Amino acid sequence: MLLEVDGIDVYHGKSYILRRVSLHLDRGEAVALVGRNGAGKTTTLRAIIGLIHPRKGRIKFDGETMRSVPPFRRARMGMGYVPQEKELFTKMTVHENLKTGVRADYPENGWSMVFELFPILKERLDQKAGSLSGGEQQMLTVARALLTQPKLLLLDEPSAGLMPAMIFRLTEVIRKLHAGGISILVVEERISVALELSSRLYVMDVGQIVYEGATADLHEAELVERYMGARSDSAVSGGASIT
Ligand SMILES: Nc1ncnc2c1ncn2[C@@H]1O[C@H](COP(=O)(O)OP(=O)(O)OP(=O)(O)O)[C@@H](O)[C@H]1O
Ligand SMILES: [Mg+2]
Repeated sequence: MLLEVDGIDVYHGKSYILRRVSLHLDRGEAVALVGRNGAGKTTTLRAIIGLIHPRKGRIKFDGETMRSVPPFRRARMGMGYVPQEKELFTKMTVHENLKTGVRADYPENGWSMVFELFPILKERLDQKAGSLSGGEQQMLTVARALLTQPKLLLLDEPSAGLMPAMIFRLTEVIRKLHAGGISILVVEERISVALELSSRLYVMDVGQIVYEGATADLHEAELVERYMGARSDSAVSGGASIT
């Protein structure tokens, strides 16, 4: 098993946010985490990468217990993180932003892999990151995470704010990365995208995992109706009632 989250409790001040959250990911797996706004998805990812410390429970990555492992070491061990807020250095160039992700031992040809996936970034290398379009900035955050050579890529709503064509491109890239052997844990608000990207899915609600299943067995509409209220595209376009 590559990642094992075992019954973690997370508090923000006095608020009890994550309640006994358990999830796991095998090597080479692509898993999605979905749920309403405020369910605790981002908090879960932040606990996994070490930006938040669970009060109870345990996180194991690649055979090691993470309790006293700081975020930068988790990154070195192979966790790549694409945050929900893009956290780019907007006044620095694309090239400079990318370099903040590179490991010292990163092979030269790794760059060409990244430019092959994101040709637009090669054209924009000397442009300020803040002047890129939203979609291009999204590509840049994924590219930067890739330059850390992750074993596990944690993506927090990669499709947010993107037009359908851009979502299609990004989905393609993520599928390619997965095919190339990188494990994926993706938080997605679009159920259709989550189902497309993963073979297994967790649903979270009010800080708890309320459903786990293989995506092949799932029906989007049913999932949305049972767990997601009015969040999905299909629920909105289909005029489904708000639960
Ligand atoms: N720093 C913080 N201090 C206090 N409460 C917080 C903090 N960060 C998150 N929370 C609360 O924790 C809960 C879970 O937030 P989280 O960001 O994990 O949700 P999410 O599932 O990622 O939602 P979204 O889909 O809107 O991104 C929310 O109720 C949020 O208000
Ligand atoms: Mg979030």
